[in-house]
Amino acid sequence: MPHYFDEQPHVPSRPTSVHMKLRDFEADLVADRGVFSATRIDPGTALLLDVGSTSPAILDSTGNLLDLGCGYGPIAVTLAHRNPRANVWALDTNRRALDLVGTNASTLGLSNVRPVTSDEVPADVRFDQIWSNPPVRIGKAALQDLLSAWLGRLVPGGHARMVMSRNLGADSLSTWLESTGMTVTRRSSKRGYRILEVRGRPASAGTSGEAEARQ
Ligand SMILES: C[S@@+](CC[C@H](N)C(=O)[O-])C[C@H]1O[C@@H](n2cnc3c(N)ncnc32)[C@H](O)[C@@H]1O
Repeated sequence: MPHYFDEQPHVPSRPTSVHMKLRDFEADLVADRGVFSATRIDPGTALLLDVGSTSPAILDSTGNLLDLGCGYGPIAVTLAHRNPRANVWALDTNRRALDLVGTNASTLGLSNVRPVTSDEVPADVRFDQIWSNPPVRIGKAALQDLLSAWLGRLVPGGHARMVMSRNLGADSLSTWLESTGMTVTRRSSKRGYRILEVRGRPASAGTSGEAEARQ
């Protein structure tokens, strides 16, 4: 069965234009068949990007930011716009999505977005922030493996923000994250979505890092 996370979508390409209107940023993005939510910005993604969008903790980073499961890039381009000096890693398995995020970033003049597959992220890169509308459809075990792998690459004091539908298991994911030693804060709960902020090991004295300096 074809999925939006297939490496090469089986459906023929038919590009679409999607308008994204956030509180602080508006853009026209190119999407396509075979990628997630190709006809509109997913409402969960829009909520994720609008909640706390003026908080200094998510603006003006100069570090590495990850959009885990970027699709055609609504999160990645917003992060790049809000953090022009940061490196934004836009990660996906779907090649068509990666081409689209590259096109969207360059059309918007955002030179700090790097579309990548997981193999293309150097092993020593650590992230100040991870953002995700995660691929719930890959199944619970695969999703847990994916999140463990990437959340484990947060710098001390870094954080992740994720959106998940309550119906698709946001609360059980939250319980599972806490069972792995992460701290989970519910930032918002609206229209059936949860916005979760996830933190790893607490920042400790003597560790340096931009994220820590912002606490
Ligand atoms: C729910 S969609 C979100 C897409 C986009 N961020 C948005 O908000 O519109 C999840 C994305 O994760 C991608 N994905 C699935 N498995 C993945 C994996 N193992 N590693 C990285 N991305 C993956 C899918 O291809 C899909 O684009």
